[in-house]
Amino acid sequence: MARRIHLEPSRTLTEFRLLPGLTTRETSIDQISLASPLVLCPDGGTITLKTPVLAAAMQSVSGPRMGIELARLGGAAVIYCSQPIADEAAMVAKIKAHKAGFVEPQAVGPETPLREVDALRRREGYSTFPVVDVKGHLLGLITRRDYDARIHGDVPAKERMVPRAQLDVGVAITDLEEANALLIEGHRAVLPIVDGDDRLLALVFRKDIEDHLDNPDQLVDERKRLLAVAAVNTHDYESRVPALVDAGVDVLVIDSSDGHTTFQRDTLAWIRRRSPSLPVIGGNVITGDGFEYLVAAGAGAVKVGMGGGSMCITQEQKGTGRGLATAVMDVVAARDRYEAKTGVHVPVIADGGVVNSKDVVIALALGADAIMMGRFFARMEESPTESVRINDRVMKPYWGEGSARAREWSPARYRQAAFVEGVEGFVEYAGKLRDNLPLLVTKVKAAMSSCGCRTIAELHANAELELVSALAIREGKVHDILQLGGEADSLSSWST
Ligand code: IMP
Repeated sequence: MARRIHLEPSRTLTEFRLLPGLTTRETSIDQISLASPLVLCPDGGTITLKTPVLAAAMQSVSGPRMGIELARLGGAAVIYCSQPIADEAAMVAKIKAHKAGFVEPQAVGPETPLREVDALRRREGYSTFPVVDVKGHLLGLITRRDYDARIHGDVPAKERMVPRAQLDVGVAITDLEEANALLIEGHRAVLPIVDGDDRLLALVFRKDIEDHLDNPDQLVDERKRLLAVAAVNTHDYESRVPALVDAGVDVLVIDSSDGHTTFQRDTLAWIRRRSPSLPVIGGNVITGDGFEYLVAAGAGAVKVGMGGGSMCITQEQKGTGRGLATAVMDVVAARDRYEAKTGVHVPVIADGGVVNSKDVVIALALGADAIMMGRFFARMEESPTESVRINDRVMKPYWGEGSARAREWSPARYRQAAFVEGVEGFVEYAGKLRDNLPLLVTKVKAAMSSCGCRTIAELHANAELELVSALAIREGKVHDILQLGGEADSLSSWST
């Protein structure tokens, strides 16, 4: 006899509906904030998302393009670890190098020949370099317009630079709006920021500021670089973690389909020792016991879900898994007990099988703080795959991390795994993330407005959910009308 047999079936997100609460002027859509904790930092701080969604750590989902664009929209993509360490570190470095306001520039010396400046330009992709003396005092700026490498290759930078006397600078400015005002005032494209002794601190570019002001939810670190999140595994973390740290990673996610393991505990312990201030998300688990185990091992957030992913065959292959709603409820109950005891709210992330805005808000209402999705993001322009045309439909390839295709990057590692846990397929191309995510956000906010909740914390405290019957789910879809070209364009979808 098994130790325990749960006779109550586990539930999926699709089986729940929200009951509306009292909507007021204060809970209209424009008053609602989706800011939500992603992970607790060991120093006591919290990293907060403005848009509580994560793009899955998958080869077909999260590369640097997704990382940059999603961070600009207030979420985060988890760079996948099923690739060589140097490649993953380069992806993280690319996200961190994306300019989001104050840039710490690579400076050149006054005697640096312009040939070297030009080589630097080609390598770094920047066209403006500050010229500083050995103590870091600003001497001038050299831009691509100031020289011709074929003619001035041997000329030192100091002879072609725009000298300090002709530059507007901002002294010890830390506010982007203030920097922007100075740039506009001086008709400048770039503003050096110096300290009281005229030592260079940063450069601010007009086009970066405009970009930043256009993206108010953008997630940045204290140096105004975009937030970078990356996955690690429980095999090569001793070499992978240091490389990701050097590249500037802000948050690590231990990527495992079953995280309730001593391997994950050992990985967490090692990271805690090697990088004591780095926040780490553990997972995946589907029970309260799994949550408690990972939090005791040092996880700053816990990812939940097994067997529900759109390309996942784990349940069929191994018989392990749980409906995501039940998994979230079980883990959230353990999380709430932990919070009642310690006063610490550990973020919970729902992952696998979240299809659309309705699933997102149901998972949040059940107690999740953020939602991870693979299929949703794989359809976007910014996912790392090329679109293809299949039967007149534009599609993008999507494959599981446990599929044969994903494992091609390191056949040696998977020699033991005689079977796959994911499949390879296609998802319909949806266009740019910027044209899709705001709509999902608005729908989630509309649901919260109906429930009379202004924040996710209020949703956790006040949401009322109801399990619905299969018939009620059917009734909730279009029925009994002929909808030309629509989802219900067939007699079979009619109820009578
Ligand atoms: P989706 O949003 O339903 O497409 O699910 C994405 C999630 O499925 C990921 O975040 C992983 O947790 C999980 N996953 C990724 N690859 C595999 C796989 O090959 N087998 C099973 N689950 C996977």
